[in-house]
Amino acid sequence: MHSSFLSIENLGKRFSRGNILEDVSFSLEKGESLLIQGKSGCGKTTLLRCIALLEAIDRGQIVFNGNVVSKPGCLDRPNSRLEIGMVFQQLYLWSHMTVLENVALPLWLRRDRHKNLADEVAKYQLAQLGIEDKANEYPNQLSGGQRQRAALARALVHSPKLLLLDEITANLDPETAYNVVGIVEKIIEAGTSVIWVTHSDLPSTIWSYILRFENGTWIKDKYH
Ligand SMILES: Nc1ncnc2c1ncn2[C@@H]1O[C@H](COP(=O)(O)OP(=O)(O)OP(=O)(O)O)[C@@H](O)[C@H]1O
Ligand SMILES: [Mg+2]
Repeated sequence: MHSSFLSIENLGKRFSRGNILEDVSFSLEKGESLLIQGKSGCGKTTLLRCIALLEAIDRGQIVFNGNVVSKPGCLDRPNSRLEIGMVFQQLYLWSHMTVLENVALPLWLRRDRHKNLADEVAKYQLAQLGIEDKANEYPNQLSGGQRQRAALARALVHSPKLLLLDEITANLDPETAYNVVGIVEKIIEAGTSVIWVTHSDLPSTIWSYILRFENGTWIKDKYH
């Protein structure tokens, strides 16, 4: 039994072209947040996908909420996936479904919730992010910032304990990006741990740590 909320221990990940992540280690306590930066191709998305339990690892282990959830040959997907939300670089909203349907879908798939109740939870989440008026529109009828918020709402419907964000402001103008940072600050203040991958500077007092890929290694520092 481990006490850490999230502990990445000597993680290694290899694709056919070779090792992408080597010996990555860091930990976070509940409510702490982390910014990840590093040059394109250094493995940031791969690291997030490993933590989201979407990708098997080749070495080391991941401990989440006191349990080993990932080690070579073994992923604890069903039990832990619901507690981890992720917003992807490409958003992956279904274009043939309305915003409400996209956001409610993870709850419908759980089958333990009545559809009407799932829709209510989804509507509440859209309202929290200020896009409740877009519920019945399709993703391609939304602006980039509104789509970003729809994807964020979908990741939040499970009330995850850990939220992983992959460059979610990369395609937004500075003002909209600033608003999204404000939304994420509120999520962190409400007690959710956030790991945010970004190339941009995101001025905020909210980050506990920064993890940088420099000279071939990952270095974790206090943010301030
Ligand atoms: N499914 C895969 N199969 C094979 N190689 C992959 C796969 N996914 C990622 N890679 C390789 O792993 C490396 C790291 O990719 P990753 O997407 O994690 O980088 P990144 O740091 O997120 O880059 P960017 O800042 O451009 O988003 C790249 O060389 C990429 O080609
Ligand atoms: Mg990436």
